[in-house]
Amino acid sequence: MSLDQELAGRTALVTGAGRGIGEAVVHALAGRGARVIATDLAAEGVVALETAYGGRVVARTLDVTDPTAVEDLVAETEATLGPLDIAVNVAGILSGSPVSDLSDEEWAATFAVNTHGVFHVSRSVSRRMTGRGAGSIVTVASNAAGVPRTNMAAYAASKAAAVMFTRCLGLEVAPRGVRCNTVSPGSTLTDMQRGMWTAGDEEASARRVVEGDTATFRTGIPLGRIADPSDIADAVAFLVSDRARHITLHDLYVDGGATLRA
Ligand SMILES: NC(=O)c1ccc[n+]([C@@H]2O[C@H](COP(=O)([O-])OP(=O)(O)OC[C@H]3O[C@@H](n4cnc5c(N)ncnc54)[C@H](O)[C@@H]3O)[C@@H](O)[C@H]2O)c1
Repeated sequence: MSLDQELAGRTALVTGAGRGIGEAVVHALAGRGARVIATDLAAEGVVALETAYGGRVVARTLDVTDPTAVEDLVAETEATLGPLDIAVNVAGILSGSPVSDLSDEEWAATFAVNTHGVFHVSRSVSRRMTGRGAGSIVTVASNAAGVPRTNMAAYAASKAAAVMFTRCLGLEVAPRGVRCNTVSPGSTLTDMQRGMWTAGDEEASARRVVEGDTATFRTGIPLGRIADPSDIADAVAFLVSDRARHITLHDLYVDGGATLRA
């Protein structure tokens, strides 16, 4: 079967779909024939996707930190559009403070989206998927979940928790036909990445990411480039497809070798 119909007949829920990696995941799944419920805190990006794809993409606003809103949206989606076969947790926020400056609020907000949001969505969809004996969940985490980073303690810890949560869920639901995997991107060219760069000095900022920075104990990127969001989305599309039918509990790093998989 050609890739452009690989996910035909499947329905997918994507969070954080309004821009960046989430938007690229919508393109990857819809481009392979899936119907996609594209959700985001902000309406603008997902509405633009719905307009671009016609009936193939359905836009909804969703705050993943709100468990009731998540449960309502999943119930409403399944009642009106049919069973969800695929769920992709992409919504995430970055926290860039050193621990000495990290407020209670920033810590809690980071976990509310990056960890609790993954819990809310995965719990809601996996309950339904296990009843049907099929389904695939992918959580987009970060390579920062696997190596310590300065100024990223809250972010990295929240992502590490999301990875372990997704693997434990995968273990529970595997006997009932549901697969759970994570994709851990390295630096990827999105608004989140650009937000860490020095304003007006983008070229030099990007070069520092690729070359690494010994002052912050950060390796560079062996493959010599910052990822495009489609690089991450292609990995997600593979993991939710039947080509990955025997893969679960896996954490797929898409970081150009940046963490040396140490
Ligand atoms: N860009 C990178 O370098 C990079 C690297 C590693 C991991 N990641 C992870 O990939 C994912 C996507 O990152 P990105 O670079 O596209 O980020 P981004 O900031 O460009 O997009 C994130 C999206 O999530 C949405 N969002 C934020 N809070 C939300 C909430 N409470 N409920 C629903 N949606 C919410 C935002 O509205 C936005 O559309 C994130 O989980 C991020 O942590 C990104």
